[in-house]
Amino acid sequence: MKVAMDKLVSLCKRRGYIFQSSEIYGGMSACWDYGPLGVELKRNIKEAWWHANVRERDDMVGLDCSILMHRAVWAASGHEEGFADPLMDCKACRQRWRGDDVTDNRCPACGGELTEPRMFNLMFKTFAGPVEEEAATAYLRPETAQGIFVNFANVVDTTRKRLPFGIAQMGKAFRNEITTGNFIFRCREFEQMEIEYFVKPGSDEQWFKYWVEQRFNWYTSLGIKKDNLRLREHEKKDLAHYARSCTDIEYLFPMGWSELEGIANRTDFDLIQHSKHSGKDLSYFDPDTNERYVPYVIEPSAGIDRTALAILVDAYDEEPDKDEIRVLLRLHPDIAPVKVAILPLSKNQKLIPMAKEVHNAVRKRITSMYDDTQSIGRRYRRQDEIGTPYSVTVDFESLEDNAVTIRERDSMKQIRVPVAELVGTLERKLSGEPLEVLPPGGKYWLGFEE
Ligand code: GAP
Repeated sequence: MKVAMDKLVSLCKRRGYIFQSSEIYGGMSACWDYGPLGVELKRNIKEAWWHANVRERDDMVGLDCSILMHRAVWAASGHEEGFADPLMDCKACRQRWRGDDVTDNRCPACGGELTEPRMFNLMFKTFAGPVEEEAATAYLRPETAQGIFVNFANVVDTTRKRLPFGIAQMGKAFRNEITTGNFIFRCREFEQMEIEYFVKPGSDEQWFKYWVEQRFNWYTSLGIKKDNLRLREHEKKDLAHYARSCTDIEYLFPMGWSELEGIANRTDFDLIQHSKHSGKDLSYFDPDTNERYVPYVIEPSAGIDRTALAILVDAYDEEPDKDEIRVLLRLHPDIAPVKVAILPLSKNQKLIPMAKEVHNAVRKRITSMYDDTQSIGRRYRRQDEIGTPYSVTVDFESLEDNAVTIRERDSMKQIRVPVAELVGTLERKLSGEPLEVLPPGGKYWLGFEE
């Protein structure tokens, strides 16, 4: 099912995933705060991306550049001059629009006449140092990519990497977006995960295709349904002036198909620009061919917030549950903020010490949560709604047989396993082992009334 955006926003707030920024003061438009569960979700997304794109590869290294950079970077990259959207105001209802969102020069809200488009630079301007003067102008970076280009020579010199190789970076970016909305889809402060992959000119289109496929598969590896993803190739006439090709990975969000990630063949544009503006040679000497050339760059550029939104939308599900509805997030175990909940059957004082002991054993290896409030049925539902893949219940029999039950979120089926087998069993289940595979001493279990 496709969840309505307002339903998801309400779940995220109710359960501590995402809050409006500065909410007690009426909110800061297009800025969002990640709550206790949201911060874990985001960390898991970043961890999955870093693993797949840096740690598991020989041809990639990481970088973490400062957000404030020399103003000349933005002159060279073209952002100071051209990172602008056309802005139009409705003369009747005063609503403000991005040119891209308008057809027929009429206000999409009321049909009123619009002003002529004015170009509006999306970079946030500030001043570095105590004096607010033109010479001290600095910008909050609108993308993480430029930090990679200006460090290209540093990385080549220090790592002795040979082409093809890539540099990955994730971090905050800022854009003074004209129109916002759709929750965390378009924010003024957001996070990007970007790769600049440097290749020999001539091999660029082959690497471009490779990265489109790699990046598409990364989203499905996180559990996002293939049917909700598609590739949109940009027509040549719509390409940015520096790009030779560009393909977006789009996701079917509640408001329709929209960009999740863009993969572009940026040619040698950025390195040449920075070479010209800085006076530093950013060419590469190829020891295999004894040639010197400026590499071409393939750039897969993703948004962390948009990935989080796609993951939440994709995982949301509802199913009939007696007279009620069971709401659940079918999150992939690698992404779920809490992997295991430890629940004593009741608040009975006899159960709590053992439940806490079990929690202490599990939490050393697996992100887990202890909860002994309300009935067991309500606690299971709460864990379903936040997407916890497994719940472990300590009951009165546990005090006798030293075994506990494991309940699976998606099927609600249960097994009973000896405490000595618990951590290993949970680790295997979280890695994809079917619930029905029992450890030594394990058995099927009918489960408690929910
Ligand atoms: N370096 C290339 C670049 O920044 P982009 O298409 O402008 O390209 C890349 O941005 C990705 O960053 C987008 O696909 C999207 O996931 C994310 N993104 C861009 N603007 C965003 C915004 N205002 N809010 C949230 N995510 C955004």
